[in-house]
Amino acid sequence: MEDVELLKKNAGIAACKFVKNNMKVGLGTGSTVKHTVIELGRMIKEEGLEIVGVPTSLATEKLALEVGIPLVELSDVDCLDIVIDGADEFDPEFQLIKGGGAALLREKIVAQESKAMVVVADERKRVSKLGAFPLPIEITPFAYQSTIRKLTNLLDCRVNCRMSGDNPVITDNGNLIADAHCGPSIEEPKKVENDILMIAGVVQVGLFNDMCDAVILAGNNGVEEIINPNGRL
Ligand code: 5RP
Repeated sequence: MEDVELLKKNAGIAACKFVKNNMKVGLGTGSTVKHTVIELGRMIKEEGLEIVGVPTSLATEKLALEVGIPLVELSDVDCLDIVIDGADEFDPEFQLIKGGGAALLREKIVAQESKAMVVVADERKRVSKLGAFPLPIEITPFAYQSTIRKLTNLLDCRVNCRMSGDNPVITDNGNLIADAHCGPSIEEPKKVENDILMIAGVVQVGLFNDMCDAVILAGNNGVEEIINPNGRL
């Protein structure tokens, strides 16, 4: 296993300590939280853990079913106890960029319905200022070129429609992803989030502000638990 893969696995598994019996758990998307999902499946089988999960993507739904996590619809529960998810970047204020896996809309809906959010990451995701990772923005297919033009003008940077080969990436919700190459320059993530959301063709933006309560960060010296002093954990 490559080093980074091992770090992802360490972070993903360490986060399972936040999951207790009878919890309703949001299951994030990506190559780090995949290890959380697999470990929760193992805990259900081998340790009798009793939980239900709400997946944030079709890919996570498939994996969760494969490893034996019982799933419920978000609309059938009042709220979730916790969501565990990955991130593309986090800053010292625990603000996040997410959406590298194109699942940001469902991830944000699930995070908003959760009493706490734990992020699993390796040390490459820690930044002093957000924006080196291109900011993912879910947009409608209708008039997407004009939405991209508006985003380019607003953010004053290159904005691309995310492609997979010759075709645009289509999200689980039937939308497209625009990636904004802001550079590590996002000074006011809440203002940027609000400004982007004012554009009609924007469905959601991958800035997750004031949502993250802890980061489980795996580095070469072990796993660090960084608790947000202003958070809910
Ligand atoms: C998907 C996400 C992921 O959580 C994020 O991209 C991190 O993924 P990975 O753990 O594979 O680096 O936001 O939309």
